[in-house]
Amino acid sequence: MIFNTRVVEPSKPFADKANLKRAEHTALLKSAETSYEDHWAGLAKNNLVWKKPFTVPMKWNPPFVEWFCDGELNISEQCLDKHLNGSTAQKTALIWEGEPCDDLQPCERKTFTYAELHAEVCAFAEGLQRLGIKKGDRVALYMPMIPEAVISMLACARIGATHTVVFGGFSAESLRDRIIDAQAKCVITANGGFRRGKILPLKVAVDKAVSECPCVESVVVVDRLGETAESAYRNSKSAFTATQMHSGRDHWYSKCKIAGSTLAAAALPAEHPLFILYTSGTTGKPKGVVHGTAGYALWTNLTCRWVFDIQPDDVYWCTADIGWVTGHSYVVYGPLSTGATVYMYEGAPDFPDFGRFWRCIEREKISIFYTAPTAIRAFMRQGNQWPQSSNLSSLRLLGSVGEPINPEAWEWYHATIGSGKCPIVDTWWQTETGGVMMSPLPGITPLKPGSATRPLPGIAVEVVDDNGIPVPRGSRGKLVITKPWPSQLRTVHGDPERYKNTYWSTFAGPAGAVKEPYYFTGDGAFKDADNDIWVIGRVDDVINVAGHRIGTMEVESALVDHSSVAESAVVGVPDSIKGTSIYAFVTLKNEVKQMAGWNDVKKQELARELISHVGGIIGSFAKPDHIRFTDSLPKTRSGKIMRRLLKDVATGHESLGDTTTLEDVSVLASLRQSSDDE
Ligand code: WTA
Repeated sequence: MIFNTRVVEPSKPFADKANLKRAEHTALLKSAETSYEDHWAGLAKNNLVWKKPFTVPMKWNPPFVEWFCDGELNISEQCLDKHLNGSTAQKTALIWEGEPCDDLQPCERKTFTYAELHAEVCAFAEGLQRLGIKKGDRVALYMPMIPEAVISMLACARIGATHTVVFGGFSAESLRDRIIDAQAKCVITANGGFRRGKILPLKVAVDKAVSECPCVESVVVVDRLGETAESAYRNSKSAFTATQMHSGRDHWYSKCKIAGSTLAAAALPAEHPLFILYTSGTTGKPKGVVHGTAGYALWTNLTCRWVFDIQPDDVYWCTADIGWVTGHSYVVYGPLSTGATVYMYEGAPDFPDFGRFWRCIEREKISIFYTAPTAIRAFMRQGNQWPQSSNLSSLRLLGSVGEPINPEAWEWYHATIGSGKCPIVDTWWQTETGGVMMSPLPGITPLKPGSATRPLPGIAVEVVDDNGIPVPRGSRGKLVITKPWPSQLRTVHGDPERYKNTYWSTFAGPAGAVKEPYYFTGDGAFKDADNDIWVIGRVDDVINVAGHRIGTMEVESALVDHSSVAESAVVGVPDSIKGTSIYAFVTLKNEVKQMAGWNDVKKQELARELISHVGGIIGSFAKPDHIRFTDSLPKTRSGKIMRRLLKDVATGHESLGDTTTLEDVSVLASLRQSSDDE
């Protein structure tokens, strides 16, 4: 079960300069062990700027937790104002590069010092206030990767509006559902964004979504296209159409800004909801994961310093989109709170060719680079000539996130991108955990290709059986977190019962080994002989496609929404680039099958139509890779679809395991026979 036992010992030169030294690490582990609340209280006092100090470290009313709850602060102050007194004020906070380029040279590059970013955030925060946005209101963001996205998040935080960022790859329908669930009063978007040479029609999707959202009073539009060099249009495959503005509702971003504003950050309770981020789960619609302010601010800051070892002269690049949690914690809040120089790139890694990322690293002298295994595998397949055409010697630390990294990809990343000298932090965490929970610590922990190794100081994880009892080393079990932690999700927006049921009911306690409820991650894992943890992947009905979390139920509902489909079942199958690809079994309504002229060509057409239907409902990234039509689906006597069997069929495994609980065994035979029938 242990894929690779190669161990890369920490390098001494790295360790000598690292933020976190071995002795401090040992002391942190010890203080978390001996006095958990004091441990966290000490870190929160020393690392956050408080407007009103807290006196209560933690209130744990399982499964609801509050941290530092009688204190007051503002995370935009941690990210901006804190840096304005010293030399960091004139340091570059953000370097941004647009996607369009001419002759491999980017057409657009912008930079903001901390003082400039502060001014931008104040100007827009006051503008939002003038639009009637108040503390506690929700604001939805549907934006490309442009500086205004970062500014908007910080501006919301500054006035205490809770933001909900919706990834720009989601469809208008998904956007609508999220806006309605969050009851957002305002939507911030752009009239476009560049992705792989095309213009993303974000404003068009917003118009469609908002027409069905009575809660939305205003839409703020960044003029991304107007500011773009003419060559961008020439190179783009999309035709330019003028932006439609709805009078009374839509406002240009540039007109909203109040120039010269120095709006003070609102003093917010430590638990004030900073953001809602929708994520897929086993059942129903995506849920709105709610994060608070102080605990999240603390942990994103500490993990940036401990795990990414961000230091004053680093140039740091996390390639995640701000639409996902990695973008929230490790493009915006964490690195800016450390005073880092953050590099941000708008577009696709392969535009105009597979050398783009490496040229960015050379040009900007990126020293810390954090990306996903799916991207690493895609680059690996393209060959070494791309990274080798650029000088990557500025890199000193690499990171990986989103799914287990296979040792082969790890080795390539280590040797080819990191020239064998950069530690790789394989960071395991989730939308719900707010920040990294397990990772090697550079300079301290030996690296093992494919293992996230150990929990960070203060984080208590265990690998347990169904009764909550730790499994022996080498055996698979479920990954749980046994103590509340500062950056944990606080609830599911508008649905505390769902919060309880989803995360805290599997190991509810007190029973047997479980004295207090454990947080269930949904992941399977095992510990090796050294006690290092290897995360295997999801054990629930969530699949991880190219690092994107997708609920099989969501794809099934989107398929069933099509007028020809009677029933569907979706499983994940291994994919060499995406990690997992989406395999959908579909049964059709009788009238479709009985239609005159129903043949293989029609079937293929319908399969294509179904794939784009799912893209339209959820977003392109959730399109099934394979559609298999079948007469019926294998079910248990209680009517539950037997996904395990379907997975075996999809992956072509002959041994289909125990079939005694099948209601209709003949279904399986027909599935096997129809296995060429795609
Ligand atoms: C998976 C992304 C193995 C895991 C930050 C988790 C990982 C889900 C790793 C969360 C890793 C993330 N090793 N698996 N280093 N990082 N995962 O919410 O299955 O988009 O539960 O958060 O990604 O995905 P999410």
